Amino acid sequence: MKNIIVGVSSGIACYKVIDLIESLKGFNINVILTKNTLNLVEKKDFEKASKNKVAVETFNENINYKDYLKNKKNIKHISMAQKADLMIIAPATANIIGKIANGYADDLLTTTVLATTAPILICPSMNVHMWENKIVQNNIQKLKDTGYIIINPEYGDLACGYKGMGRLANLDKINKKILSLTNKKTDLEGKTILITAGPTVEHIDPVRIITNKSSGKMGYSLAQKAALRGAKVILISGPTNLQKPFGVKTINVISADEMYKSVKTNIKKADVFICAAAVADFKINPSKNKIKKQNSFILKLEKNIDILKEISKKKGKTKLIGFALETDDLIKNAKKKMKEKKMDVIIANKSETLNSDKSDFILISNKTLRKFINISKNNIAEEILNEIRY
Ligand SMILES: Cc1cc2nc3c(=O)[nH]c(=O)nc-3n(C[C@H](O)[C@H](O)[C@H](O)COP(=O)(O)O)c2cc1C
Repeated sequence: MKNIIVGVSSGIACYKVIDLIESLKGFNINVILTKNTLNLVEKKDFEKASKNKVAVETFNENINYKDYLKNKKNIKHISMAQKADLMIIAPATANIIGKIANGYADDLLTTTVLATTAPILICPSMNVHMWENKIVQNNIQKLKDTGYIIINPEYGDLACGYKGMGRLANLDKINKKILSLTNKKTDLEGKTILITAGPTVEHIDPVRIITNKSSGKMGYSLAQKAALRGAKVILISGPTNLQKPFGVKTINVISADEMYKSVKTNIKKADVFICAAAVADFKINPSKNKIKKQNSFILKLEKNIDILKEISKKKGKTKLIGFALETDDLIKNAKKKMKEKKMDVIIANKSETLNSDKSDFILISNKTLRKFINISKNNIAEEILNEIRY
């Protein structure tokens, strides 16, 4: 049975989490309340819902270091953190978010957060002005960058009398996210998958760049899904605004040359290389100084390295997967590209795909050609990963 820790901080929505816990069937649930939460709800209601004792304090009463050392008594936050398959904080107050973002460990909940290696799902809920406060938003961004999964609050009437963003996300939505995070398949266990994602950025001068419209969503979906299916994943990402996938080693790069360098370093470990980045086709020899305003000037674009083509020259046993973004003759051009770059699988798609969540894709391998209409990037990611299971 999977173990979930539900951390509850003292937001007014804390009573709703009793329903959330009751909706989670087939899990062993341990609840940690912050001390402040005890001013709003009773421990016993969470004990009834979770069928387990609720923890609040870091230190056990009437025991000292000898009990821990000699009698091998469990240290609560470590043993809870170790056995967790997932940790949820709902509602997450502005305070708890600030503490976690800054590495505080001054109560049982924050200490357990630092000690666990399980994915952590944070469901903030607060007054609209608190939510929009720049410091809270910076803390949220910090958590996202660190790999925490955030379910944003929703718009609506707030308990404080305001209307705006701040309501705890719908419980069904939280429940579904929990199920997807704990429904871990293991069919990619033992495989190392190297993935590139996002655009690359080429400098014209210190302040100007050329890039493309890639959001990075495809590569990030692939990385997250592959990690959830047990693979060891290395993600090499151009600049994006996306939350880092948890359980994935993410390497940030800027230019195509940097991406190529990083791919070359990591390809030796990879069983599969998925090139989902939209690598800029051209680069510029950048000016060291800012180019002065002038009526016109000619920008000389040089061909960038074709990362997948270079890697395919020494293919070895690594499976290669790439994308073909075409405007016409989709299948014909994709098959040509697949052959040229010795790919095992190619996913053909049209340019509308670049910044959207859903699109049409054609998945071509040596054995199959399958068309997917208006499919989400998350779902096509699963289909692509199915191709590399064996
Ligand atoms: C009635 C009441 C409701 C509150 N609701 C929220 C809330 O929804 N979100 C929030 O961030 N803080 C809320 N607060 C403020 C927190 O309880 C306060 O910042 C507290 O110090 C947070 O402690 P904790 O994070 O350790 O639980 C509320 C306070 C009161 C008195």
